[in-house]
Amino acid sequence: MARKTTFSIRLMKKKGKKIVMLTAYDAPSAQILSECGVDIILVGDSVGNTLLGYESTVPVTLDDVIHHSAAVARAKPDSLIVGDMPFMSYKVSVEQALENCARMLQDGGAEAVKIEGAGREIEIVRAVVAAGIPVMGHIGLTPQSIFEVGGYRVQGRTAKQTKEMVKQAQALEEAGAFSIVIELVPSETAKVITESIGIPTIGIGAGPNCDGQVLVLHDMLGLFQDFKPKFVKRYANIREVIQNAVNEFSTDVREGKFPDSDYSFEMTEEETGRLYGRTKPV
Ligand code: KIV
Repeated sequence: MARKTTFSIRLMKKKGKKIVMLTAYDAPSAQILSECGVDIILVGDSVGNTLLGYESTVPVTLDDVIHHSAAVARAKPDSLIVGDMPFMSYKVSVEQALENCARMLQDGGAEAVKIEGAGREIEIVRAVVAAGIPVMGHIGLTPQSIFEVGGYRVQGRTAKQTKEMVKQAQALEEAGAFSIVIELVPSETAKVITESIGIPTIGIGAGPNCDGQVLVLHDMLGLFQDFKPKFVKRYANIREVIQNAVNEFSTDVREGKFPDSDYSFEMTEEETGRLYGRTKPV
């Protein structure tokens, strides 16, 4: 696969090719996704739920995401690497956003950043793009605002809310975003938004009408099972695969079956003889 860029991602919408995006937070996963031809790797702040044991993405820090993004970048994937800007790492001021987005590229090895929201964030997106940092927008449910939103509920159910989201998407496009994640909205809402802008939409819980789809890798592999939103399709049950392997190992150890000679290093007869103080092997 040729290396993906923000330019090639935008072109995919024009050519009617669906965009595949998945999260990854480490080098081996990034390698696998790249080998599978995944277009975009999102180093999501979902790392907070999936790997770090938090109940929301709010406690995730910029250093957390940079740490994981750098691991992904070291795998040198052909997929475009997007670093998710975590809670409050870009909202304080345009200056703060510029400094932190630059760190995501310089220290985290990301090639673009994702920014949640399309209110006063529009000004921030415009400044970050003007500084040469590609931005992916994120509208619909924005998990970093979960305490303000009041729960993981479907957004944009009414015509009024849909019109508002169309305006947000258009404002993001006008500010220079190269794509937009739409989270947890009815399929019809996502369709209207997708048809109203020239940049690709990437849906999660937003139905089939977006230009691409994203899932959290640990959700679709069945690794993270604390809860399963309706929109998550489990393509594997890796948790069960790991449990089976760990149980087998435990049994082998407890019954003295592991390690056998296939997995051990043994001395030659001569070496053994010397070990026991004999000059010649017995
Ligand atoms: O952090 C994340 O994984 C995300 C996706 C759910 C889009 O933002």
